[in-house]
Amino acid sequence: MATAAIKPSAEAACRLRRGGAVKTEGQWLKAPKEKVMAKDVIIACDFSSKEQTLAFLDKFTGRKPFVKIGMELFYAEGPAIVREIKARGHKIFLDLKLHDIPNTVRKAMSVLSRLDVDMCNVHAAGTVDMMRAGLEGLTREDGTRPLLIAVTQLTSTSEERMQKELLIDATINDCIAKYAENAKEAGLDGVVCSPLEASLVKEHCGKEFFTITPGVRFADSSKDDQVRIMTPAQAREIGSDYIVVGRPITAAENPVAAYERCCKEFLGE
Ligand code: C5P
Repeated sequence: MATAAIKPSAEAACRLRRGGAVKTEGQWLKAPKEKVMAKDVIIACDFSSKEQTLAFLDKFTGRKPFVKIGMELFYAEGPAIVREIKARGHKIFLDLKLHDIPNTVRKAMSVLSRLDVDMCNVHAAGTVDMMRAGLEGLTREDGTRPLLIAVTQLTSTSEERMQKELLIDATINDCIAKYAENAKEAGLDGVVCSPLEASLVKEHCGKEFFTITPGVRFADSSKDDQVRIMTPAQAREIGSDYIVVGRPITAAENPVAAYERCCKEFLGE
């Protein structure tokens, strides 16, 4: 399913933005329509079974939320859970954070693309070539593709550990800014980052480069294990494009009301 016409070449692949489209070696890739319709609340469905997940989603009888499926649910239930949720009319962010050699990532992304998900991700640490290969694999024969987002440095990685263990001799902000620039160079649509890093990313990569921010909490709710948090309203003010919200919605007494509150604060609806 990968578009064989798009050749991976670090030097030759030039990325020009025109109305959101991306050009690699002479071929224009259609920009996903979400490019022009960004801004949404994504619910992190951190459940370990299909039953739990579907029982949760059954509560949403009106608007169908954009949902994030992570490794736990995907490894437990496989691609069938993605098809089932998609068939119910939800948009899906498949959060599998691919990181391997470019050829493997290209092929894996080609398979994920067939699942008709709306957003996928890779680790920026895999290099520009790997990210570009992921983008190529994700692009369907008709030129359409899901959004592709990079993870810069995980928010669980401290600057100290990054320097000591990963031997990255930079500040964590410089590292995040550089990884975001690499993702942009590879043609990706944005990065996952903490809300506190969103402005830094926008400064380096421009306003149109998406920031997807977890670590969102209502002003009056528990922080859980998140440290660097923002309310949905603050995330909106700093220019986040998508917020990823888990427990404030999934563990709420009334998840639908919590979701609607989130949309109201973040989207102003
Ligand atoms: O429950 P909570 O709102 O903390 O869930 C946040 C979601 O975002 C989880 O699925 C978590 O794995 C994910 N995430 C995060 N921080 C990152 C990247 C992803 O919290 N840096």
